[in-house]
Amino acid sequence: MKQEEEKDLRKIRSDYQRAILLESDAKINPFDQFNSWLNDAEKEEIRDYNAFNLSTVNSDGYPRSRIVLLRGMDKSGLVFFTNYSSEKGQELAVCNKVCANFFWNMLERQVRIYGVANKVSVAESDAYFKSRPRESQIGAWASEQSSELRTRDELDEKVEFYSKKFEGGEVPRPDNWGGYRIVPHYFEFWQGGPGRLHDRIVYKVDEDFVWFMLRLAP
Ligand SMILES: Cc1cc2nc3c(=O)[nH]c(=O)nc-3n(C[C@H](O)[C@H](O)[C@H](O)COP(=O)(O)O)c2cc1C
Repeated sequence: MKQEEEKDLRKIRSDYQRAILLESDAKINPFDQFNSWLNDAEKEEIRDYNAFNLSTVNSDGYPRSRIVLLRGMDKSGLVFFTNYSSEKGQELAVCNKVCANFFWNMLERQVRIYGVANKVSVAESDAYFKSRPRESQIGAWASEQSSELRTRDELDEKVEFYSKKFEGGEVPRPDNWGGYRIVPHYFEFWQGGPGRLHDRIVYKVDEDFVWFMLRLAP
């Protein structure tokens, strides 16, 4: 049998040409800049353009990353929803410092955000939970997110159990399911450029909590 050819990852090389990011074009406020890039990602019809890589750290200082979906964004922060008892939930209970990373390949853009994550209000979690499709609501009950399952059947049985339990009525929000709001203190907007000369525009807050902008070498 012919051996599968080994991939040469060194040959993968994209040259970024789509845009440049100058300070004069960037918005004064990073939330406005982020919103404008989110709009571009939506217009580009990027699937799951609201997906981002969320990094937390465990008590040993090990970073953990996973994808979650952005469900709300305004100047008070970035909101995502999850199971509070999951691995990320347990880590956030000990250390709420996070990094959020968005990558929109088609737009040759990355956004990196540092901040702290706090639970949203019960009312906010309730409102979002109500808006979810019924099967996702049942799923929130059936899945003790990040705990070990013996088999796939175990999960399917739990789905069946909760489907029957809540049959004919509303599915309430489990107490350990809800949102976090990331309050950022750092944004970095990365726009790919030709010859690896990318643009990196950073926003930080000064001692008066006013945002200022700076540029980093690519
Ligand atoms: C596209 C995509 C979207 C996801 N969205 C969420 C989400 O919004 N909330 C969530 O808890 N997990 C989401 N997940 C699953 C997480 O990546 C992860 O598997 C799960 O939250 C458990 O993570 P943990 O064990 O680190 O807590 C998503 C995964 C993918 C690939």
